[in-house]
Amino acid sequence: MKPLKIGVVGLGTVGAGLLEIAFGNGPLSKAVEIVGVSARNKSRKRPVDISNIPWFDDPVELAKLSDLDVLVELMGGADGPAKVAVETALKAGKHVVTANKAMLAENGVALAKLAADNNAEIRYEAAVAGGIPVVKALREGLAANKIKKIMGVMNGTSNYILTEMDKTGRQFADVLKDAQRLGLAEADPTLDINGGDAGHKLVILSAIAYSGAPDFKNITLEGIEEIEPVDLESAKFLGYAVKLIASSIYENGVVRQSVRPSLVAHSNPIAQVDGATNAVLIEADPVGTLTFIGSGAGAGPTASAVASDLLDLYFEAKRPVFTGSSATGEEVRFATDLGLSSKFYVRFSVEDKPGVIAKISDTLARHQVSIESFLQKPPRPNASVAIILTTQKCDESTLHAALDELSNFSEFVEKPLIMPIFE
Ligand SMILES: NC(=O)c1ccc[n+]([C@@H]2O[C@H](COP(=O)([O-])OP(=O)(O)OC[C@H]3O[C@@H](n4cnc5c(N)ncnc54)[C@H](OP(=O)(O)O)[C@@H]3O)[C@@H](O)[C@H]2O)c1
Repeated sequence: MKPLKIGVVGLGTVGAGLLEIAFGNGPLSKAVEIVGVSARNKSRKRPVDISNIPWFDDPVELAKLSDLDVLVELMGGADGPAKVAVETALKAGKHVVTANKAMLAENGVALAKLAADNNAEIRYEAAVAGGIPVVKALREGLAANKIKKIMGVMNGTSNYILTEMDKTGRQFADVLKDAQRLGLAEADPTLDINGGDAGHKLVILSAIAYSGAPDFKNITLEGIEEIEPVDLESAKFLGYAVKLIASSIYENGVVRQSVRPSLVAHSNPIAQVDGATNAVLIEADPVGTLTFIGSGAGAGPTASAVASDLLDLYFEAKRPVFTGSSATGEEVRFATDLGLSSKFYVRFSVEDKPGVIAKISDTLARHQVSIESFLQKPPRPNASVAIILTTQKCDESTLHAALDELSNFSEFVEKPLIMPIFE
């Protein structure tokens, strides 16, 4: 078989990792011939020797190369040069392999159409959970299943921060600074800590699982900025870990999607995933529950996923872009998860005055929200008191109605923190 002629645009962490695999003596070295590379700065020192490979200042010019078979896009960014290079390649009927979740989550529909119109393919195993082959699991291994739930820890940076806060009792801002110093968080960590990055991955998985289109608008997004050591400590006392959980839950033709800090029972394998590791749990019929745990980022793991896509193209394993495992062919609607029925964790910050607990329990009772457990913590430095409760299963809209009513009382000094609980 003739090797695929590939052009690699982006030679950073993942791009350089891919070249290392291609220059080794594994199967990829026989499956590809690198006909060009492109990055921003030609003179930047790289961990691999690229002096014998044609250099392109402009990634779009490389995408236009007439004898190219596959463009490998590893630059990043939802729009801009990455998207233009990908569009250029697809319009010319070249296949694309990418790790760019932001581009797929926000522009995946148009790119999938362009690919179909030009008889080209887009492969993106590396875009979700780095080295964990969860895209292939959904598209191939679970192709005959009906997916009921996908949930997991899909952002290593936020998981590292929560893990450190839990271990050391330090505040969020403090641990974030450390993570930046150690290179575990970007200089601009917004997408990691506000749930955006995990959201990008989740909508891609939802699109495959339910044969829909990636839909970044219909997702509830909450980050970890509001989490305090008292939440981690209280959760632990109650038998849970606090994790930034991305979840996509199917119920009666609706897929509810969210990324939110949540309580996860210690017996759930996801609760045990610490530091920068990722975990994805899939509940499907008839296979049951599967849990994938591994490296969600880094040069080796992510490049391994890119390489597997290239090998698939080399062996001509064809699949449509966002079709996967919906065994029934049912058309589902994607929605935020705010209509979900669940147990919830609620942390109130209140003034230390008599009668506050009675107001909470009376108001919740009037809204038919039953309390499962109740904790009061000693006053904090700002003199407010944290009151923590967990509810029995209830509708989140009902819980919100009760909390809105409570916010009218002057003793409630901050908006309560709400987290769903996964047993
Ligand atoms: N890092 C991970 O662990 C990981 C995991 C999963 C998915 N991903 C995804 O993989 C992609 C690449 O991530 P990365 O971590 O490898 O990024 P990175 O280390 O920042 O590398 C980006 C590369 O793109 C090049 N580049 C940026 N803008 C360019 C432009 N306008 N024209 C030409 N080249 C340009 C840079 O050139 P210079 O080198 O010259 O600056 C660099 O080589 C992203 O979509 C990311 O979301 C990354």
